[in-house]
Amino acid sequence: MNARINPSILAADFANFERDLNRISTADAAHVDVMDNHFVPNLTFGQPMVERLQEITPVPLDLHLMIEDPDHWAPQFAEMGVFSVTFHAEAATSPVTLARKLRERGARAGIAINPATPLSAVEEILPHFDQLLIMTVEPGFGGQSFMADMMPKLAKADALRRSHGLETWLQVDGGISLDTIELAAANGADTFVAGSAVFRGDPGEQIAALRAAATA
Ligand code: DX5
Ligand code: ZN
Repeated sequence: MNARINPSILAADFANFERDLNRISTADAAHVDVMDNHFVPNLTFGQPMVERLQEITPVPLDLHLMIEDPDHWAPQFAEMGVFSVTFHAEAATSPVTLARKLRERGARAGIAINPATPLSAVEEILPHFDQLLIMTVEPGFGGQSFMADMMPKLAKADALRRSHGLETWLQVDGGISLDTIELAAANGADTFVAGSAVFRGDPGEQIAALRAAATA
């Protein structure tokens, strides 16, 4: 299986993004948590910041928009040439239209669901997306504990994409570490976001160890 490791720069040193992005050059993508202090109770990066990150690194950017009104804002992020843009199902008004707009702008389209949101919320629209993000913590902060009770939802999503022959990537985000990645992989995840687990140690070594554990 192909395991993609996307370190979350929420756990990087905010005064040294260029250095920390260089440290994750072996990653499949850098996960960028955009928070607006409304959809989640935390505030992080805005558009000028993402634009600048896109300029300074060859690592593809995997944007996770934890914001209200993604219908309005997400296309603007896609315009920047980022690799993928994932918005939340709970926040979007017209997710299918929005997915099309993201793809038209050259980004992979992703949809995310919070722990409390059932898979049924996105089941029918899944073919319009390149990625489904199943949150394994409540969105808003890094360093939280992995919610193993999300595994049945993940396994169901994996079965769904297989039965429909979809190429949709299954991403998990929150509490992914060497202790939890095998369980997520066993339940069908193929794309893993890890913040604290990567930046706590030597990022290159952590990425390699996580990738090995996910494919074991
Ligand atoms: C949480 C963010 C995550 C976070 C993960 O709202 O979406 O991407 O950075 O951090 P860790 O890996 O530390 O749980
Ligand atoms: Zn995230």
